[in-house]
Amino acid sequence: MAFLDAGLRTQVLDWMANQVPESRIAHVLRVEEMAIALAQQHQLDIEKAATAGLMHDLAKYFKPNQLLAMATAEGLLIDPVAYANPHLLHADVSALVARDEFGVRDPEVLAAIADHTLGRPNMGPLSCAVFLADTLEAGRGDSEELQTLRQISQQNLTRAVWMTCDYTLRYLLNTSRLIHPLAIETRNSFLHRDRWHAELPNVQAAPPYSMAS
Ligand SMILES: [Fe+2]
Ligand SMILES: [Fe+2]
Repeated sequence: MAFLDAGLRTQVLDWMANQVPESRIAHVLRVEEMAIALAQQHQLDIEKAATAGLMHDLAKYFKPNQLLAMATAEGLLIDPVAYANPHLLHADVSALVARDEFGVRDPEVLAAIADHTLGRPNMGPLSCAVFLADTLEAGRGDSEELQTLRQISQQNLTRAVWMTCDYTLRYLLNTSRLIHPLAIETRNSFLHRDRWHAELPNVQAAPPYSMAS
């Protein structure tokens, strides 16, 4: 399935063939397929979904030092959890590769690539579709929970995002892995939107001292 300029798609697939194992390319193609299906279901731009799906894991096999160096050169904020686990940066760095290697300029597509692992509070529907496709594509398994999440993703992107966050967070807790705060912020944001049909208020904690001199 392809809704992308055939020349660009071939160029990306050729590039990936030299960078990532075949099993990862199979995953990428399934993410592309599911992102397209979700875009069709939710009336999103199909070409953008196909582009982000195809390019979401471009930096998946970059070495930790390369990920850190590229993120630093771009001026991205690298928090303690990402320093401890630079692999988390592969989402942001994949967006940089899509931009610099393949000339992708669409901010929505670049955001969807960058958001595919941890999500982002209030991320747009294209980001939601790629985020869901990455976790729920057919190759991820066939448990009852995954089947339910796939069904919900066709009906309600907002609900599917927080429930998929819960699914991933449960796995991270059960296997004693680091949890990035952004994953929790994404989950809270979408749970709140689903329950109360509103965005979480953007309240900054007051500093513990007076700023007045
Ligand atoms: Fe990824
Ligand atoms: Fe992926």
